[in-house]
Amino acid sequence: MSARLDERYAAGYEASMQQYLKLHTVERCAGFFTPLLRSGMSLLDAGCGPGTITVGLARVIAPGRLVALDASEDEVHKTRRALELAGCVSTQVDVGDIRSLPFEDGSFDAVFSHAVLDYLPDPSRAIEEFGRVLKPGGVIGLRSVSGGDLISPSNELIEESLLLFHRAAAAQGGDFTRGRLLGQLLKDGGFERIFARPSYERAESPEEWEGFCRVVGDAYTSGRVVELALSKGWLDESRLAEITEAWDRLVSDPSNCLGFSWIEAVAFKPV
Ligand SMILES: C[S@@+](CC[C@H](N)C(=O)[O-])C[C@H]1O[C@@H](n2cnc3c(N)ncnc32)[C@H](O)[C@@H]1O
Repeated sequence: MSARLDERYAAGYEASMQQYLKLHTVERCAGFFTPLLRSGMSLLDAGCGPGTITVGLARVIAPGRLVALDASEDEVHKTRRALELAGCVSTQVDVGDIRSLPFEDGSFDAVFSHAVLDYLPDPSRAIEEFGRVLKPGGVIGLRSVSGGDLISPSNELIEESLLLFHRAAAAQGGDFTRGRLLGQLLKDGGFERIFARPSYERAESPEEWEGFCRVVGDAYTSGRVVELALSKGWLDESRLAEITEAWDRLVSDPSNCLGFSWIEAVAFKPV
């Protein structure tokens, strides 16, 4: 019997990952896309997670219709709740697979997918579906990690912990350099006016440094990825303790520089 889709999702849904995803807001993650959105549009957020970006997107297109979808029932509940609390009406949140969307052809003016294609063994299937459910002339915005993370000065322990996510994603058929493929995937999917550019996720100010590193460090030292790494023997408890101490040192020293690399791409479905 094949595992449920959410069980195959490498990053997991544990508390440390949920805390990290709170950093994902429309301002931090979708600034490349929102200038292309208009009030009244219909939009699909494909792989919405707990909905922290979704709420911002709903506000941008209000009173347009926002539909969100995720493989995990728990994440769907969280997104529904977040939309309710934010007073966003005209929304629908469903459980589903972005590679087999339960929507008619040409249903949306816009499709957005953030940090999801990274985990799929077959991202072109999702791109095909995004193209199918978009209206002619519709706009797509994608953002995926690109595998060029920056830690300066170099730090062997932090770098090792970053690589654990790459290994965990790869073990489930994903690819933590997937962002580099976005332009090509969109081209192969028949999209036009494609523009892809790099960006970094980072602490935006000295005041943000400690909170940012703490949240990211927790996600890299606990949760499903670390459990998998321990069970596979990619590291042992004593190495994990060293890595955790390295994150603690980083948290207290904003003279370091830490950036997670992404590629963000926009494109249009031909009219
Ligand atoms: C890293 S989270 C990103 C969530 C949100 N987009 C964000 O950036 O905050 C990835 C999400 O993709 C979902 N996911 C993974 N594979 C999926 C699939 N094939 N179909 C739908 N959702 C999927 C997971 O359940 C998880 O909630």
